[in-house]
Amino acid sequence: MSTRVIILAAGQGKRMHSRLPKVLQPLGGACLIEHVIQAAATLPGSDVHIVHGHGGDAVQDALRHLDVSWVEQTRQLGTGHAVAQALPHADDSDTVLVLYGDVPLVRTQTLSRLIEACQRGALAVLTTELNDPSGYGRVIRDGDDRITRIVEERDANSREQTIREINTGLLCAPADLLRAWIDRLDSDNAQGEYYLTDVISMATADGVPVAGVAAPMDEVQGVNDRVQLSIAEATLRARRAGALLASGVTLRDPRRFDQRGELRCGRDVVIDVNCVFEGHVELGDGVHVGPNCVLRNAVVGSDTRILSHSIVDGATLGSRCRVGPFSRLRPASQFSDDVRVGNFVEIKKSQVGEGSKINHLAYLGDATVGRDVNIGAGAITCNYDSVNKHQTTIGNDVFVGSDTQFVAPVTIGNGATIGAGSTITRDVADNELALSRHRQKTTKDWQRPDQRPHLHKKTE
Ligand code: UD1
Ligand code: CA
Repeated sequence: MSTRVIILAAGQGKRMHSRLPKVLQPLGGACLIEHVIQAAATLPGSDVHIVHGHGGDAVQDALRHLDVSWVEQTRQLGTGHAVAQALPHADDSDTVLVLYGDVPLVRTQTLSRLIEACQRGALAVLTTELNDPSGYGRVIRDGDDRITRIVEERDANSREQTIREINTGLLCAPADLLRAWIDRLDSDNAQGEYYLTDVISMATADGVPVAGVAAPMDEVQGVNDRVQLSIAEATLRARRAGALLASGVTLRDPRRFDQRGELRCGRDVVIDVNCVFEGHVELGDGVHVGPNCVLRNAVVGSDTRILSHSIVDGATLGSRCRVGPFSRLRPASQFSDDVRVGNFVEIKKSQVGEGSKINHLAYLGDATVGRDVNIGAGAITCNYDSVNKHQTTIGNDVFVGSDTQFVAPVTIGNGATIGAGSTITRDVADNELALSRHRQKTTKDWQRPDQRPHLHKKTE
């Protein structure tokens, strides 16, 4: 016996006004349906079937990396019809859990409660109370407060429309019963669709109890348009910020903090306002991140400071480093401990050794820099010859004067000194001084040209 999760995702989502199928719209660093799959995948013994239709190829392509099965619904004839497409994959002894690809914020623990209610011998439906229930199916209860049916808004009479308890659409049922009920569905209603919700009155008629499981409102909000997408984003942002605060991270303003992936923090981490974290980011103990930074797939060692307006993308930083303000670290950059990188410095695919400093206006690409190196303002690697990338290797204790160009491939030995303004095209050995700029010329008592020579020309 296992839990067959059926995620309905065949709808078009016209109200998003997008080329992207609705369930692929991004939310907190993943697409809508990935959140649903994640919540379901954590359930023990579950396997996931996705009912797709509109934009099906795009959806399948985008989710190729996930362990899910695909079921096509060629015509969208209603939620009951959609479930019917996936039911042949369930065994009679299974429990079927129906989820929506566009209800992304439901938590695993809520799904577990729904499954438990079902396994106690009921058809379990997830409901919630809304101040404004318009648009949703209403939950009808009898005099003993038992759920007897669900009526869609368009089929509801005016008394039923005042009911504030609504159907979230998520439900859980024994596969054999659900199969029998779904076989009996008809499309005799205001929308001419096969309504999944009609199984509730069938259960009542068959004497199967219907259990209403109450869901927190924030978990069951659907995403049909951009406004609802932004509300879902805000909910997720607040949830993630709350979890970090609870774990001991200081967020200067939890409302101005975006975690769009996985973020792991040590003790006494401080994150200032307007920072965005994407992919997988790890911050060691005592790391401070200044305002307006973007960190993506980064590992930051303890007590390192990222100062304001810096981008750390695909980089690994040691302890006690200092980055920024206005630094850009690109993928495959690796810093040892105590490295300093300052404003307007770009570093790509380079290793920088312990204690080295690159404080102003520099570019390092495809470089290896040793220990205690000082790289002056305006120094750059010329790593690209229009076809290939080449390596620059700089030893330990090297002093690189300002405005140096390293024309790669080139190797600089330990203890070497490069004079300011040099274009380095050949290797420099240990402890050598290399200087390639022209000797300065000076002319005594230089007469500056007239400031407006063309005017003189005219009167001549
Ligand atoms: C449905 C419920 C309603 C509930 C509401 C909650 C029914 C009949 N009604 O209404 O009681 O309050 O959800 O949001 O179930 N889908 C398919 N194939 C189809 C039709 C829909 O895959 O043929 C998918 C959609 O992509 C969507 C989900 O099922 O993810 C719900 O469909 P939607 O048309 O939005 O249902 P509602 O009319 O809103
Ligand atoms: Ca809907």
